Amino acid sequence: MSKRVRTAVFPVAGLGTRFLPATKAMPKEMLTVVDRPLIQYAVDEAREAGIEHFVFVTGRNKGVIEDHFDRQFELETTLEMRGKTAALRELQQDLPSAGRTSFTRQQEPLGLGHAVWCARHIVGDSPFALLLPDMLFKGEPGVLKQMIEAYEETGGNVIAVEEVPESDVSSYGVVARGDGPDTGFSITGMVEKPKREDAPSNLIISGRYILQPEIFALLANQPRGAGGEIQLTDAMQTLMTQQAFTGVKYRGQSFDCGAKIGFLTANVVYALDRDDIRDGFLKELRKLDLEDRL
Ligand code: G1P
Repeated sequence: MSKRVRTAVFPVAGLGTRFLPATKAMPKEMLTVVDRPLIQYAVDEAREAGIEHFVFVTGRNKGVIEDHFDRQFELETTLEMRGKTAALRELQQDLPSAGRTSFTRQQEPLGLGHAVWCARHIVGDSPFALLLPDMLFKGEPGVLKQMIEAYEETGGNVIAVEEVPESDVSSYGVVARGDGPDTGFSITGMVEKPKREDAPSNLIISGRYILQPEIFALLANQPRGAGGEIQLTDAMQTLMTQQAFTGVKYRGQSFDCGAKIGFLTANVVYALDRDDIRDGFLKELRKLDLEDRL
C-alpha cells in the first residue's frame, strides 16, 4: 500500500508581478475571492483531502500569511463580547490546529523547483502534496481529494492536468498522455513552457501535485531551465525515468488568480454560488445595464 500523504507544501514566496500595484506591499496569496484569502482556499482544499501538516515556503513581505494562520485573541474576544458567535466559530474552523503549520523561507527567487527544495527538511522522507495557491479550483470533491483517490490506486507521483487552447500551452508545463482513464492515466513525458509546435499535447500541469521525496535530491542538482529558473517540471522529468507519474484530468473549474482576469472571474463565480450573497449581488449586477457595457 502507498504511504499516506499527510503533508502539503504551499510555495508562497512569489512576487506577484502580474498583479501590481495590489501586490507591492501585500502578498498575492492574501488577495480575497469574495471574503476569503486565496491561501485559505488552498489550505481548505488540502484539509478536505486529509492533509495534517501545512508547510509554507515564504519570502520577504509574507509575514501576514503567518499571522493569518494564528489565533487573534483581541479579535476573538471582541467577537465573543459582541455575541458574534457564527463569525467566531468560522475563524476557529479555518485554522489548522496548533503545531500543524511550518514556515520556511525561500531566500532568493530561483524558481518553483527551488521553492519546493527549500521545504525538504520539513517534509522529510515522505510523499507530499504541493499546491500552488494562485490556482483556485472549484470542484466536488476538491482537486487534491480527487488526486488522493487516484494515488490510493496507483501510488507514485500524481499531477492534476486540464486542457487549454493550443495557443496557451507555452505559458505552462505540458504533459504527454499515455494509457488510462481521465481519473488516472499514465504520463509518458512532460516539458516546461514549450513552444506551441513542440508541446506534446494541450494538457497542462494545473498547479496540484503529489510527489515522492526522491524529487528533493534531483532538485538539489537541477540546472536552471525555462526562464532561467530551477524548474520543478525538469526534475519531475528525470524522476519519471525511475518512478510512475499519473495524470488526473480533474472534474471542476480552475481560475488563475495570479492574473487579473482569472481573479475577477473567480470573484463573480464564487459570489454567485454563495447563498448569502447571490441575490444581493445579482440585484446590483442587473442595475449595471451590463448589456450596454458588453
Ligand atoms: C508553474 C509550473 C507549471 C505549471 C504552472 C501552473 O509555472 O512551473 O508547470 O503549469 O505553474 O500554474 P508558473 O506559473 O510558476 O510559471
